[in-house]
Amino acid sequence: MKNLSKVIACLALCMFAASAAFAVEGGNPKKGKYLYKKSCKVCHVEGAEGGALTPLNKTQAQWDRFFDKDKHSADTDAWSSLSEKDLLDIQQFLYDHAADSDQPETCG
Ligand code: HEC
Repeated sequence: MKNLSKVIACLALCMFAASAAFAVEGGNPKKGKYLYKKSCKVCHVEGAEGGALTPLNKTQAQWDRFFDKDKHSADTDAWSSLSEKDLLDIQQFLYDHAADSDQPETCG
């Protein structure tokens, strides 16, 4: 019985670690904000082809999903010329200020 509770505690820990791994981390949100304004806002303002888009448009899970799976279906130079690190920074910025984050923010 003693061993069983150890196994359960270990499983609970593993599950916690796995769920934490979904959250984006390691990006630089300040740089991400700058890059977002520079590389994304050209198309993502009211009236432009991509339409208005701010961190508030999505929840944290939706941003992670977008960057991990959906990516950008519009084939843009702006998107494809960004490095993995740049995209991570942008993802971090959007994630940190998503609709369900601690500091929801539009990016003005
Ligand atoms: C050259 C114009 C252009 C640039 C630059 C651009 N986008 Fe887009 N974006 C679009 C268009 C057009 C769509 C709609 C078509 C589609 O589904 O991809 C779109 C769609 C999106 C969507 C999906 C919107 C939704 O409601 O789900 C997201 C998120 C997005 N872009 C994020 C970004 C980010 C982040 C960047 C900067 C790294 C960026 N875009 C740069 C044109 C652009």
